[in-house]
Amino acid sequence: MHDISAIVHAQHVLNAGYQCLVLDAPAIASMAQPGQFVHLRITGLEPAALRRPFSIYRASDSQLSILYKTVGRGTEQLSRLRPGDTLTAMGPLGNGFPLETHDRWPVLVAGGYGVAPLSFLARRLNRQGMLLVGGRTAADILCTEEFTALGWDVRVATMDGSQGTHGLVTTLLDAWLARPGHPAATFYACGPDGMLRAVAERAQLAGSPAWLSLDKHMVCGVGACLACVQRLRKPDGTTWIARVCRDGPIFEAGEIVWEHPR
Ligand SMILES: Cc1cc2nc3c(=O)[nH]c(=O)nc-3n(C[C@H](O)[C@H](O)[C@H](O)COP(=O)(O)OP(=O)(O)OC[C@H]3O[C@@H](n4cnc5c(N)ncnc54)[C@H](O)[C@@H]3O)c2cc1C
Ligand code: FES
Repeated sequence: MHDISAIVHAQHVLNAGYQCLVLDAPAIASMAQPGQFVHLRITGLEPAALRRPFSIYRASDSQLSILYKTVGRGTEQLSRLRPGDTLTAMGPLGNGFPLETHDRWPVLVAGGYGVAPLSFLARRLNRQGMLLVGGRTAADILCTEEFTALGWDVRVATMDGSQGTHGLVTTLLDAWLARPGHPAATFYACGPDGMLRAVAERAQLAGSPAWLSLDKHMVCGVGACLACVQRLRKPDGTTWIARVCRDGPIFEAGEIVWEHPR
């Protein structure tokens, strides 16, 4: 996988701490699938700095966007880039979400910036469904108008009650699952590990498939360094070590061996 030069087309502030970066990068954008990511070498960081991985939020034939939260040195420098600046990108990397819902209702569960690949997914699925989105405060709730405009049922939860239901996003999921006669669902989720695990447990109890996007620290991004390993279970019960960057980041919930038993 080669480095591709990408030019900053635009940079928009979304909510406090969150921005959207639009890149002219046709070689990556034209091939991108929902759930895949780009590994960016951020101009302005020292040459030895690691690349940073970001899910693809939007892609057309010529441009791709990422939606990111400023959390440290790399994302802070990213937020300083302006139209015309260049950076280098590898991608699209990873496997992406399966787009076949097998006549099940797509239920997307997002935490914070986890909504980015799910927004891309919603645009590429051939049917509407439901988005459950959670965050610490209203500032962590992004993209809901896009889903509403696409005709999706959108439900919001915040930990401080500043938007939607007061509590975790899984409160919304539990309420929906408790409703008699809810349709058979396929779950797609992206967010913090605790949320992914909670979705996995509920999907397994409901006998529903759940596709989870794992967020691991990455170094090479292409399967060479073992920085991003995750133990998975095969159907015969044996386990193997996957590289999230190359074999994922999307895995079916039943495959994942969670590190700390509950
Ligand atoms: C497949 C994949 C897709 C991702 N997609 C997005 C996205 O769409 N939008 C987005 O904002 N971020 C995304 N991330 C996380 C993003 O890569 C990190 O936030 C970023 O690398 C942090 O760089 P930094 O230099 O700003 O922070 P650092 O200075 O490296 O770290 C600052 C803080 O962020 C934490 N951090 C660093 N990397 C990660 C990570 N991978 N996951 C969780 N916490 C991390 C560190 O532990 C530390 O607490 C994704 C990560 C992966 C693996
Ligand atoms: S980041 Fe190097 S193997 Fe995944």
